Amino acid sequence: MSRKPIIAGNWKMNLLQSEAKELFEGIKSFVKDYTAPQLPTVIIAPTFTSLCAVNSVKCDCGCGGNKISVAAQNCHWENSGAYTGEISVAMAKDAGCDYIIIGHSERRQYFSETDEMINKKAKAILAGGLIPIICCGETLEQREAGITDEHIATQIRAALSGISSEDVAKSVIAYEPIWAIGTGKTCDSVEANRVIKMIRNVVKDVAGVDAADSIRILYGGSVKPSTIEEQMSQSDIDGALVGGASLKADSFNEIIANTMKVAV
Ligand code: PGA
Repeated sequence: MSRKPIIAGNWKMNLLQSEAKELFEGIKSFVKDYTAPQLPTVIIAPTFTSLCAVNSVKCDCGCGGNKISVAAQNCHWENSGAYTGEISVAMAKDAGCDYIIIGHSERRQYFSETDEMINKKAKAILAGGLIPIICCGETLEQREAGITDEHIATQIRAALSGISSEDVAKSVIAYEPIWAIGTGKTCDSVEANRVIKMIRNVVKDVAGVDAADSIRILYGGSVKPSTIEEQMSQSDIDGALVGGASLKADSFNEIIANTMKVAV
């Protein structure tokens, strides 16, 4: 089964609108020269305040803008209401998003997001016609205690609970060991592939073999231009969720270029 690779940039809480537009332009000018099937699915997740700014420079004129999909970094599961500070799936869609990242470890850690909330968000995103990028990952303590697989399997089972096999098949998972995020310590590619295979087996168990074959599972955590080729050469790693290295057009474009060397 060949799965189309994804290279997604998570800009986190960085860049003002003008800076976001400039970086987006830098990525557009690179991707414009490539087409599918060579070009991976390229996704950018700016802050909420920059969603409209980047979408304003997406167009069909051949500039490359229409080759980049946009993601929100979070959402609420309700359609509307008294939830100060939140945005709904419909609002993210209205601002031009096709994807929404949910369950990032920073949201679990600093904003107390639970597996149950992430499951509600995943269902709301799919019901709204968008695609969730569901993050999971273990802490260093969990890894050292030998409970990585158990912890991640629990996160994935909870996130996918009650979701149809068809919807699971089109979803995206990002395996991001927390100790590798923003630390420069990339997880060994063979080990990342082993965990991702384990995740695929959990998906098979909850949603069947077709969903497990179709779902794209990314690796995230200190991905750099120098690491992506080895990561993409692994059997089960379908792409990357990139933080720090997505904040400069040069490094993000090099990650896309190096992905294309492997995944043709
Ligand atoms: P990093 O972040 O590439 O800076 O480690 C990845 C992420 O948090 O998605």
